[in-house]
Amino acid sequence: MKKELVFITTNKHKVKEIRAQANSESKDITIVHLDYDYPEFQLDEIDTVAEESVNYIRRYKPLKEEKPFFIEDSGLTLPALNGFPGPFSAFVFDKIGNAGILKLMVDKNGEERRATFKTVVAFCESPEKAPVLFVGTSKGKIAKAARGEGGFGYDPIFELESVNKTFAEMSTKEKNVVSHRGRAFRKLLDYIA
Ligand code: IMP
Repeated sequence: MKKELVFITTNKHKVKEIRAQANSESKDITIVHLDYDYPEFQLDEIDTVAEESVNYIRRYKPLKEEKPFFIEDSGLTLPALNGFPGPFSAFVFDKIGNAGILKLMVDKNGEERRATFKTVVAFCESPEKAPVLFVGTSKGKIAKAARGEGGFGYDPIFELESVNKTFAEMSTKEKNVVSHRGRAFRKLLDYIA
């Protein structure tokens, strides 16, 4: 029988990616989605946001049955903008979107367009057990204009290093191989195996 892992998120795009990856990279794991809206903590580091989020869930126990669960928090960091938007990526995306980021980066060229995506997956075997964190990053640059129809969020403006494709121009499978989320979740799959 497959081990069930509960992924707690309101983001259906993240569920699609994680489920596709679990199906293709593990024979033993099934992803169960719990659509539960925990608070978006505004803290200085993505790692601390993930830790606070999972600790909130450990405290409020939204799972009806006791099963291992995880959450993840992600963010985009632009060195040319002193790390902005980083842990505030969701807020910034809601307020100014990809068009706003392209505008802020309009006078940046070459190396100045560098960008890093980071995901922190926080996994708990049960609410009583301390969380284990897994980090994944993906390096690239901000494209000059949005490209591609796939993915979500910042995908149309994030061009992967050494590939002339934005995440929005990749299939879910292609993105999972190289993405911040794919890399963090792969570490969780290895840990469970
Ligand atoms: P959060 O992890 O939901 O807080 O994500 C922060 C922001 O980054 C949100 O606006 C997301 O839409 C965006 N985001 C998270 N992961 C990705 C991704 O894989 N690609 C593009 N945007 C993302």
